Amino acid sequence: MIDLRLGDCIELMKEINNNSIDLTITSPPYDDLRNYNSNINLKEIANELYRITKDGGIIVWVVGDKVKNGSKSLTSFKQALLFNEIGFNVYDVIIYEKTSPSAPHKNRYFNAFEYMFVFSKGKPKTINLLCDRKNKWAGTYSGVITKREKDGSLTTKEKKLVNEYSIRTNIWTYAVGNNKSSSDKIAFQHPAIFPEKLAEDNILSWSNEGDVVLDCFMGSGTTGKMCKLLNRNFIGIEIDRNYFNIAKDRIESAKGGQQ
Ligand SMILES: C[S@@+](CC[C@H](N)C(=O)[O-])C[C@H]1O[C@@H](n2cnc3c(N)ncnc32)[C@H](O)[C@@H]1O
Repeated sequence: MIDLRLGDCIELMKEINNNSIDLTITSPPYDDLRNYNSNINLKEIANELYRITKDGGIIVWVVGDKVKNGSKSLTSFKQALLFNEIGFNVYDVIIYEKTSPSAPHKNRYFNAFEYMFVFSKGKPKTINLLCDRKNKWAGTYSGVITKREKDGSLTTKEKKLVNEYSIRTNIWTYAVGNNKSSSDKIAFQHPAIFPEKLAEDNILSWSNEGDVVLDCFMGSGTTGKMCKLLNRNFIGIEIDRNYFNIAKDRIESAKGGQQ
């Protein structure tokens, strides 16, 4: 099921049943970085997300900070605190590192990351940790526990073969920009897409096939496209008609997965 809705997510989320969404992956407008013609009431949105998320469901909230009057806005953390206050557990804070950092403000380091807050409604019900960090010591033995015997000699108690790959860290790095975030030219008519691989990695980590995934700030439809390819059901909400149409075209022409 792919269900795309044009309109304000505050209104349209009211039509979604209680406890019906397994996973939300979304990037809200923040710090007026772009003009999306929308005023969002974050508290209302967070409360609606809490209502419609299943017990054990997850929200991946992708957000950064702008520099305002010489200071980082800390919008990211203010938003995370609000989600925490209304009842979400902050299961993880993942750094979304970009290989092409944005140009710095005067006398500042290049900004190379945003946050991916992983909120859960209670204990997460689906955790499929990605195991793709190449082990330097693959094929050797580790975890060798030795015990000193009474006569002073050492005996080996346990040996563990080091696997080729380990669980990844919570810094996830992506190439961003033209032809990197996506190969769909049409997607770049939207000014602020996140990489398809970011959506894919979160879908795989926090949901299973057949689950229902929401993106309430759908933009160009990145989450929806990857849901289709990975056999997840998807509900997407976008307020801007142009972006909505881009998302619709993009998701419809994605090959594989559900029709
Ligand atoms: C940061 S962009 C999301 C980009 C998306 N992740 C992608 O990869 O294309 C945020 C989107 O939220 C939309 N938006 C802003 N306010 C909204 C609202 N109240 N309801 C639904 N969509 C809204 C904007 O038009 C914009 O397309």
